[in-house]
Amino acid sequence: MKKLTFISCILLGGWLSGAMAADKTQPVYKSAKAPIEERVNDLVGKMTLEEKIQQLNQYTLGRNNNANNVGEEVKGIPAEIGSVIYFDADAQLRNAAQKKAMEESRLGIPIIFGYDVIHGFRTVYPISLAQACSWNLNLVEDACAIAAQEARMSGVDWTFSPMIDVARDGRWGRVAEGYGEDPYTNAVFGVASVKGYQGEDMSDSKRVASCLKHYIGYGASEAGRDYVYSEISNQTLWDTYIPPYEAGVKAGAATLMSSFNDISGVPGSANYYTLTDILKKQWKHDGFVVSDWGAVPQLIDQGSAANRKEAACQAFSAGVEMDMMGHCYDRHMAELVKEGKITMEQIDDAVKRVLRVKFRLGLFDTPYIKETTEQERFLLPQSLATAEQLAEETIVLLKNEGNILPIATDSKQTIAVMGPMVKNNTELLGSWSGHGRVENVLGINEALDEEFAGKANLVYADGCDFDGEDTSKFSEALETARKADIVLLCMGEKRGWSGENTSRSIIELPAIQEQFIAEMKKTGKPIVLVLSNGRPLGLAKVEPLCDAIVEMWQPGVPGGKPLAGVLSGRVNPSGKLSITFPRSTGQTPLYYNQRKSARPNSGKYQDIPSTPLYEFGYGLSYTTFSYGDIKISKADIKRNEKFTVEIPVSNTGKRDGAEVVHWYISDPFCLITRPVKELKHFDKQLIKAGETHTFRFEVDPMRDLSFVNSNGERFLDNGEYYILVKDKKVKVTITD
Ligand code: NOJ
Repeated sequence: MKKLTFISCILLGGWLSGAMAADKTQPVYKSAKAPIEERVNDLVGKMTLEEKIQQLNQYTLGRNNNANNVGEEVKGIPAEIGSVIYFDADAQLRNAAQKKAMEESRLGIPIIFGYDVIHGFRTVYPISLAQACSWNLNLVEDACAIAAQEARMSGVDWTFSPMIDVARDGRWGRVAEGYGEDPYTNAVFGVASVKGYQGEDMSDSKRVASCLKHYIGYGASEAGRDYVYSEISNQTLWDTYIPPYEAGVKAGAATLMSSFNDISGVPGSANYYTLTDILKKQWKHDGFVVSDWGAVPQLIDQGSAANRKEAACQAFSAGVEMDMMGHCYDRHMAELVKEGKITMEQIDDAVKRVLRVKFRLGLFDTPYIKETTEQERFLLPQSLATAEQLAEETIVLLKNEGNILPIATDSKQTIAVMGPMVKNNTELLGSWSGHGRVENVLGINEALDEEFAGKANLVYADGCDFDGEDTSKFSEALETARKADIVLLCMGEKRGWSGENTSRSIIELPAIQEQFIAEMKKTGKPIVLVLSNGRPLGLAKVEPLCDAIVEMWQPGVPGGKPLAGVLSGRVNPSGKLSITFPRSTGQTPLYYNQRKSARPNSGKYQDIPSTPLYEFGYGLSYTTFSYGDIKISKADIKRNEKFTVEIPVSNTGKRDGAEVVHWYISDPFCLITRPVKELKHFDKQLIKAGETHTFRFEVDPMRDLSFVNSNGERFLDNGEYYILVKDKKVKVTITD
């Protein structure tokens, strides 16, 4: 047999596949068996420019429940639309909208339905800032998987989560939505949630696509105000803001959302460097970027574009594939293509990215969802158990003078329970609470009544409101407190004080709450302050008045139950702060991994100590832990050699308890100065009373001791480094 030439092979191959395709009744893109990339290419090859452009737009379907996103409700959504934001949980509604796309559009391209599933869909669990205080990655992954299951079964294919914006300014309302002040913490919790949402296979009927947001630097918004300018040098971009996104992209996050903030003169939604150079070229992300709500036309307000057409051109050319409710792409993209400002090649690349995610979600093969009852998908026993465990592990015991907690139940004490949070279940849901319902939240009073039934007398009084100046209920509260053995004050922030567009200029408790605490102190009774809030608070004024302080954050549907468990001792608190608590607002921003001062002993505030009130990683337990010395496998290391550090931790108290060990590194001298210390690893372990656990960390010098320059190039210097745990440290020297 004659050898076939290369050319004739290609021709024959082309003829064969053409003949085979011709045989089939359905096009390649409709064949579930064909590889995704072939389906994508086939479909794009069949689309008109108008159909392609439609894929690049996102409209809202129906009611919009976000007060900040008050764009026009789009009536008569075209069957060809790429995506909708879907605020409902009704399978019939979703399927009807999808049917229109599948049957009334020429090519039958399914819509991707997106929604903000931020900390739970119906089973709302604690806010992300609190989740990080659990230092329990598996639990956060499980919680996100539950959110995914509830969401997907309700018709949501895509969540606008996780938010992994490093946030160091408590004034910014959105600190509640991310994992705190540290890049590594945001990175690993971001990865855990991507895994929880997407699982191994996004086409699973209980998983959703994730969206890393807000790319990038949104947490640096000046003075904690929302939507404003952010001043970020390239060095800080790479050091601080990029690591969570790089980790999330490597973990397979399907999409990203471009941010509202202007990054040193180039808005996040028109930033070619971050969106294309880094994300697409360097990290090879092949999913798509959606703009934040109206972020494309907001390029006009930011002074970057003169009109919507220019805004469309800027955002799209920079690498934003989908315009969320901006009406820039739908109205101007065709013109831009005709004028040659945007090429068909760019359009095709963008459309392919969107379609790829739709194929990966299995939307072409299973466009409709099964109709199920609420009982089949929401608040399942295991989901509630996970939410409760997560809420327990997020609670941080900040102060416990004279071990006043847990509350002794042997002598049936009287506990006076007061404050605006006691019966205010809505606030416990936190911001962005999806389809969470207040009737599913167990109130603090209900939880305490159950927990302490027969063990303590609970007496209630209102005391004060969240804010305002009304002191009329103080005297009744004083009377109630005088008759009690312990005074429990449940204070904090309304949930509407956190989230988008909710900055506060003062992050202390409102004056009325501080005043009420001071009033209660006059009784001379021990005071236990319980806080529910979405940001770090400046507690310098109230801290000395309280014997114990419990940070319960905004726990979601478990409500008061985890708190009651901590107060009674059923739960031994193990949470540690994911964000520094300053003494007062004036210290903001204050975070553990600052760079060193030129004069470490000077430059302090004259009116307050310059140290935090409660630092990152801080949190007490009902037991005590003692740390041994760090042992290192080898102190002189070659650049490519890994080594191990170990530290024994003993539970020296009388109760079993979980301890979190944070491993930091410090590089004392470097060409580019490094933060005082940087978190590189953590581990949480239950240690029984009297037992010792040895925590280990395998250090990979290139990963853990290296640094990036302002171009993102990674270097490892020879020389000395320290590995730190609490006040223990060990030196390691790196050589060639
Ligand atoms: C604006 C918010 O910044 C973003 O986080 C959210 O996902 C979108 N609106 C959609 O609701």
